[in-house]
Amino acid sequence: MKRLPIGILGSGKGSNCRAILERIRSGDLAAEARVVISDVFDAPILDIAREFSIPNAYLAPGQFRTRLTPAAEGQLVEMLREAGVQLVVLAGFMRVLHAPMLQAFPQRIINIHPSLLPRFPGLEAWKQALAAGESVTGCTVHFIDEKIDHGQIIARQEVAILPNDTPETLHARIQIAERELYPAAIAKFCEKYPASNV
Ligand code: GRF
Repeated sequence: MKRLPIGILGSGKGSNCRAILERIRSGDLAAEARVVISDVFDAPILDIAREFSIPNAYLAPGQFRTRLTPAAEGQLVEMLREAGVQLVVLAGFMRVLHAPMLQAFPQRIINIHPSLLPRFPGLEAWKQALAAGESVTGCTVHFIDEKIDHGQIIARQEVAILPNDTPETLHARIQIAERELYPAAIAKFCEKYPASNV
């Protein structure tokens, strides 16, 4: 089967990116990482891309804090198209994407969020789950749309909240679950929507 060309976008640590690149390298994931792009110049996710010899780039985001300028978002579309990307994987990308990206890649941009969506969208979702007194939370892979942490759910993984959990211990276990769930969800996407020759 032809490998699905993917592009990974992130702003930070890149632990999900690493998990995905490891699964590709081990042959468990029939994808090909064409490019890793970050809106943060010195983000560790770019070092991870270099470590795996994946083309990588910094995208100057422009003056807004939580989104890209329309010019920067247009540039992002161009970079991904030039790389032949057919699935855009958000791995800790801290800016909300808008029309240019959503129109260029309809139902082809996925995200992972550290809660069982639709519960607890937004920042520090593990803290929200703890504060709400939940006994179970988890992580969710979903298509993105114009709303934050919203859009069709692809896969979810539950994580139990233990009686003596702190935000740190809970977050760490959710991230372990994410590193299993995200590559597995991408693998399923690759089976369902094989690479096209376009
Ligand atoms: C993940 O925990 C994910 O749920 C959220 O951003 C975090 C990124 O972590 N969307 P990393 O950069 O993949 O380590």
